[in-house]
Amino acid sequence: MRPLAIAALALPLLAQHGRYLSDSQHPSIGNPQAVAAGSKLFMGSCAGCHGPDGGGGARGPNLVRRSLWHPLSDDAIFNVIRKGVPSAGMPPTQLPDDQTWNLVAFLHALTGPASTNPVPGDAAAGKAIYSGAKAGCANCHAIRGQGGHLGPDLSNIGGSRPLAVIREAIVEPAKDLYYLGNEAATVTLKNGKTLKGVAKNRSNYSLQFVDTAGRLHLIAMNDVRELALSSTTPMPTDYVKRLTRDELRDLLAYLAAQDIRK
Ligand code: HEC
Ligand code: HEC
Repeated sequence: MRPLAIAALALPLLAQHGRYLSDSQHPSIGNPQAVAAGSKLFMGSCAGCHGPDGGGGARGPNLVRRSLWHPLSDDAIFNVIRKGVPSAGMPPTQLPDDQTWNLVAFLHALTGPASTNPVPGDAAAGKAIYSGAKAGCANCHAIRGQGGHLGPDLSNIGGSRPLAVIREAIVEPAKDLYYLGNEAATVTLKNGKTLKGVAKNRSNYSLQFVDTAGRLHLIAMNDVRELALSSTTPMPTDYVKRLTRDELRDLLAYLAAQDIRK
């Protein structure tokens, strides 16, 4: 398959980046019992394809990252589970409504914005860690007008990213470069073609790539021989060692609570 240039689609796609389509009012969403029941169902019926943490497997895409570039509402997730995506190899299910909603609640907890889910830890302690010298996050990041500007503004980080993604940005910042959407990169395709530009969003299956002429290409990862990212992250890469487990948990609780709508 050749990379498609889809200029007409570029604007709506990019405008959606990082946004969620709706906050469902269904009572299962955010209900810890429903989430736990959904987690069990997921292990039994879905993890074989999507991986135990939704991080993707040989037969199913990464659901956590996918939500960043292709946001799904809770109702849409319900329908995907019920009907499957037969053309892509995802089977339909025959679960009753309440169990299907338990699954949606689990997926929402896993892939929805951190601020809409219960997160363990002490947010006030996390704020002190965030601003303190040991972590130094505020030197590079602003929250509600306070702090530095080298890194992205984090005022809405909990309102826009799943907890797993925020955690990954801190403990594995180099990996984070793949989907932040600002990194200079070179893609070499299996047909020998090379594209220079910026790697936007990436899933296990596809890559949005803007070339130096400003054209957006939707590239199937199957067609990619190599994706070379040319910049390294300015974000410190040693936080796993620098912070204790409790400090990291509290820091995440603080970041999860950053939501401009609250
Ligand atoms: C046999 C493998 C398989 C199983 C089992 C499976 N899936 Fe999928 N799932 C897929 C594939 C493949 C896709 C990608 C579809 C596409 O590319 O549009 C997918 C897509 C999805 C999506 C994203 C749809 C979108 O448009 O982004 C969700 C949500 C999802 N699956 C949830 C589940 C849940 C929940 C279960 C368990 C009830 C499940 N899947 C079981 C293979 C599977
Ligand atoms: C030296 C500057 C610097 C420091 C210190 C720093 N960061 Fe970053 N951070 C960045 C930059 C630059 C990025 C942009 C992406 C990249 O290069 O990885 C980033 C990205 C992030 C992201 C992803 C943002 C998004 O929109 O997805 C999060 C979350 C984050 N940092 C949190 C933290 C936290 C929490 C700390 C403290 C423990 C911290 N950062 C310390 C520079 C820094």
